[in-house]
Amino acid sequence: MAEQLFFKSEDKLSRYTELRPQLEALLGVETDVVANMANFCAALKDAFGWFWIGFYIVRQDELVLGPFQGPIACTRIAYAKGVCGSAWAEQKSMLVPNVSDFPGHIACSALSQSELVVPIFKDQKVWGVLDIDSTKIADFDEIDQVEIEKLITWFAGLL
Ligand code: SME
Repeated sequence: MAEQLFFKSEDKLSRYTELRPQLEALLGVETDVVANMANFCAALKDAFGWFWIGFYIVRQDELVLGPFQGPIACTRIAYAKGVCGSAWAEQKSMLVPNVSDFPGHIACSALSQSELVVPIFKDQKVWGVLDIDSTKIADFDEIDQVEIEKLITWFAGLL
C-alpha cells in the first residue's frame, strides 16, 4: 500500500472507521511485531494527533517501553503502578479524564493531562498495554475506549 494515510472525516468515529482498513493493509502484510507496533503508533498519531502514544510490553514483573510516537518516556513501570501498571493488574482499560485525579499516576511528561490505557491480551494473559496521552483534560471518551479496544483486539491477533 501507499505509505501515506488518507482521512476525509473530521468526525472522530468516522476517522476510526477510515483508519481500520488502512491499518489492516499496512500491518497485515508485515509479520515483524516491532515494525507493526511502530506503524500502529505512527498511524494513530497521524489520525488523531495525540501528544503521546506507545506500547509497554510485559517483561517479568514490569512493563518495558516499546515503540512509541511522542516525547521520550519512562522506560520501566512496575506491576500495578501508575495507569499502565493498573491496567495490567486489573486487566481492563483505564480511561483517565484528569491524570491529577488518578492516585499514583506516573508523570513521564508534565504536559500530559488525560490518558487512555488499553491492555493487550495474548493467550489469555496481558502481553502489554497501549498507552495514549493527551495535553487536554478529558480528551478521551467512551468512543475512543471502544474503538481503541477494537483495534487492539485486532492487533493482538497479529502477535
Ligand atoms: N502515565 C503513565 C506512564 C507512561 S507515560 O504516560 C508515557 C502511567 O501512569 O502509567
